[in-house]
Amino acid sequence: MLKFPKNFYWGAATSSHQVEGGNNNDWSEWEKDNAERLAKEAGERWQKWQQEKFPEMFDTQNYISGRACDHYNRYEEDFDIAKSLGHNAHRFSVEWSRIEPEEGKFDEKEIEHYRKVIEALKKRGIEPFVTLWHWTLPVWLSKKGGVACRGFSVFFERYAEKMAGSLGDSVKFWLTINEPEIYALNAYNRGRWTPQKKGIFSFFKAMRSLIKAHRRAYKKIKNSSPYSFVGIVCNLSDFKSAEGFINAILKIFSERYWNHYFLRYVKNQIDCIGLNFYFHNRIDYGLNKNKNEVVSDVGWDLHPEGIENVLMNLKKYNKPIYITESGLADKEDKNRKWFIEKTIEAVAGAINQGADVRGYFHWSLLDNFEWDSGFWPRFGLVGINYETLERKIRPSALVYKKIIEENGL
Ligand code: FCB
Repeated sequence: MLKFPKNFYWGAATSSHQVEGGNNNDWSEWEKDNAERLAKEAGERWQKWQQEKFPEMFDTQNYISGRACDHYNRYEEDFDIAKSLGHNAHRFSVEWSRIEPEEGKFDEKEIEHYRKVIEALKKRGIEPFVTLWHWTLPVWLSKKGGVACRGFSVFFERYAEKMAGSLGDSVKFWLTINEPEIYALNAYNRGRWTPQKKGIFSFFKAMRSLIKAHRRAYKKIKNSSPYSFVGIVCNLSDFKSAEGFINAILKIFSERYWNHYFLRYVKNQIDCIGLNFYFHNRIDYGLNKNKNEVVSDVGWDLHPEGIENVLMNLKKYNKPIYITESGLADKEDKNRKWFIEKTIEAVAGAINQGADVRGYFHWSLLDNFEWDSGFWPRFGLVGINYETLERKIRPSALVYKKIIEENGL
């Protein structure tokens, strides 16, 4: 039996734009202009088996977040489900575009909404972990140039200060920014996500701006709630190199620039680290030379045991670690049980070797809107019928529930 520490947090994660519905932000604007293109490109982007299994990818509507899961209105019902699944913690994000729809004007009604969301969690004995920014911007800010604009860190600081001031009495765990590296990569290097910039310079410009934003926000939150835990969420990879000197060097560089770049700059302004783990990266005279023995519906190589290595890599920061995301797209729920068990086993392995891991959040509680892939990838412990918005618990959620009840495997 692998036992977890007492008071370990077990739960699942979501993000505002992906589940709430009815958002008006830079992404919802971008969707209007790009949905048709994305539907057309699906044939080149995805493999034959994926196209056959998920014909929705050819439908323009798949790429419009619209009402999503209507979680904005149904959060009570969703938290009832989380509670019935044994969860004692929940990670969600507050939507900046709702809170500050116009520059400098905060909408108290929307802040009140999130206060109710937090109360709803607490009433059920579920600890809230609040992400301030999970990639979507108010439209006014995107018009100014978004993350890369000069004043970004100051805008973010003001928003963070407002949120900490308004909700700080009921929130202990704050996560400033979700996956700065994935955002900067897709929005500022590969040109895939809004604002579709390309190049290595714009990537680092976005990263530097996010580092600055995190640091400023950290200070403000700590000033207003000195006992809170403020962290950053990074998406880190399990790099493994094949034999040979060149591969070993490549691994050192990849780890340094992918896993540790952001963390090194913020290590004195975090109380904890949020780890999102999805990717294993085998280096063999090039990156991503994976064996792909088991892949998810979106084709990601499933290598859950790799989390142990990543956790051990984080030990040097000497901070508590929360696994803020780990999961897979698996509509038929074929691999999720195996994936959860393997992950938990590997986490236990790291804890036994001294890693200070204090929580695990599965991605995701619900099926949701997977950014530029849209609705067809199914990441939820709970499935959603997007026609009726009916929720249906997947069998693997019950396996996870058992792990939670036993606080171990
Ligand atoms: C992570 C994101 C999350 C979701 C999962 C599948 O990189 O943080 O919003 O898209 O991937």
